[in-house]
Formats: sequence, structure tokens, C-alpha cells
Amino acid sequence: MNILFMGPPGAGKGTQAERIVSEFGIPHISTGDAFRLAMKEGTALGLKAKEYVDKGLLVPDEITNGIVKERLALDDCNKGFLLDGFPRTLQQAEALDGMLKELDRGINHVVNLKVDRGFLMARLTGRRICKTCGTTYHILFNPPKQEGVCDKDGGELYQRSDDTEEKVGTRLDEYISKTAPLLDYYSDKGLLREVDGEKEINAVTADITSILRGSL
Ligand code: AP5
Ligand code: ZN
Repeated sequence: MNILFMGPPGAGKGTQAERIVSEFGIPHISTGDAFRLAMKEGTALGLKAKEYVDKGLLVPDEITNGIVKERLALDDCNKGFLLDGFPRTLQQAEALDGMLKELDRGINHVVNLKVDRGFLMARLTGRRICKTCGTTYHILFNPPKQEGVCDKDGGELYQRSDDTEEKVGTRLDEYISKTAPLLDYYSDKGLLREVDGEKEINAVTADITSILRGSL
């Protein structure tokens, strides 16, 4: 199954993706995670991406498309994939269509997590992530059992550098001007499925699972 997750920053794409990939046994491809890893490793890609990510701006299409193209060509994507945070511009969506055509594949579902802008700032500024395994928590909505410590492996939790109020504001503006128009693109293709992302985390997972299993 080939799935795209759409939705504004903080809608819950990463949280839900972790659960869905483990349920369906497909790889999770997150362009945001790919940029953060490259930044941490200090590669040429990471240094370039940092100029944009640190400002809350989208990384240029040609850089982002290249990463996805390489990743989709790996063997583990033969059983399907979940793309989280890509595409984010019309140009990226068209490039993705081209990549999939070359691989003789298509998109089965585009899941859009709908969350009102008013909730997103609190979700993002309260987010904490495990340094060891990458699991996402929230200080209020999904807290770890022990403050600052991952439930799964005892790893230390950290805050993303782009989760400050100022950068979240820029990211939300980027979403509205460049990414939200893609919803029409996928709706016109009959692929878009809307999910209420304001529900509690387990309820959102249940709704997405029902859609993917064809029972909703
Ligand atoms: P990326 O990492 O993709 O960030 P994003 O889209 O801004 O999304 P987030 O990861 O912030 O949010 P999410 O929807 O995954 O929410 P989460 O599940 O963590 O991109 C980062 C940057 O990389 C971009 O700004 C850009 O510079 C660059 N980039 C990436 N892709 C690109 C592309 N295609 N083109 C160009 N540039 C690109 O949840 C958020 C919080 O809310 C968590 O704390 C969670 O615990 C909590 N939460 C989740 N669900 C719920 C719920 N139902 N109720 C209550 N709390 C909840
Ligand atoms: Zn952990």
C-alpha cells in the first residue's frame, strides 16, 4: 500500500506514521527526518537544508525531490511506503507522479489530518522527542511516564530547534501558501481522505486504520 500523509505542522503526521508503519509493515519516509539526520551528521545536504529548516522555510524542490527519488528506488519500498511531509508543493507533487510512473506504481491513499490552526502552536511548542529512538511525546497531551525520559528505552527527550513560537509561525505560513493548495490536487484525483486530527491520538489511529483497511 502506497500512502501519503498530509496536514499542517503539528497535525500528528509523525505520531500517526509511527503507528501505521508498524501495523502495515511498510517503510516510513519522512523528508523532515531525512533533513534532520543530514543536519546532525553535517553532510553537504545537511548544511544546505539547515539554511531553510532553521528558518521554518521549505527546502528547495530540487533538493527534496532528489532525496525522495533515491529512497523510493530502494527495495524495501516494493511492499509499499508511507510518505510523511512530502509532497509539500505542486512541483513536488508533479515530480512524485513522475517518479512513481517510472517505478510503475501509484498512490492508494492521501490521508489529510485536519487540525485547526489554533491547536497547532501548543502541540508544537510542547513536543518532545527521544534522542535514542525518535519517539514523539507531548508534555501535556502525550507525556512520558517520567518527565524528560523515553518510556521505551530511557532515552533523553529533546525539543526540536524549529519548535519555537516564531519558527512555528513561519512554518504555518509556508503550509498555507505552498502546501494547502495540494489538497485540491489530490481531491481532483479522487485520492484525498480527510481525518479529524483533533480527536485523541488513539482515535485518530483507529480512523486512519479503518480508511486504509477500506472499512470507512
Ligand atoms: P517536518 O519534520 O515534516 O515537520 P512538519 O510538517 O512541520 O511536521 P511536524 O513534524 O512538525 O508535525 P507532525 O504533523 O509530524 O506532528 P507530530 O506527530 O510530531 O519538516 C520540518 C522541516 O523540514 C520543514 O519546516 C522544512 O524546512 C523541511 N521539509 C520537510 N519536508 C519538506 C518538503 N517536502 N519540502 C521542503 N521542505 C521540507 O505531533 C505534534 C505534537 O502534537 C507532538 O508533541 C504529539 O505528541 C502531539 N499530538 C499528535 N497528535 C495529537 C493528538 N491527536 N492530540 C493531541 N496531541 C497530539
Ligand atoms: Zn526512545
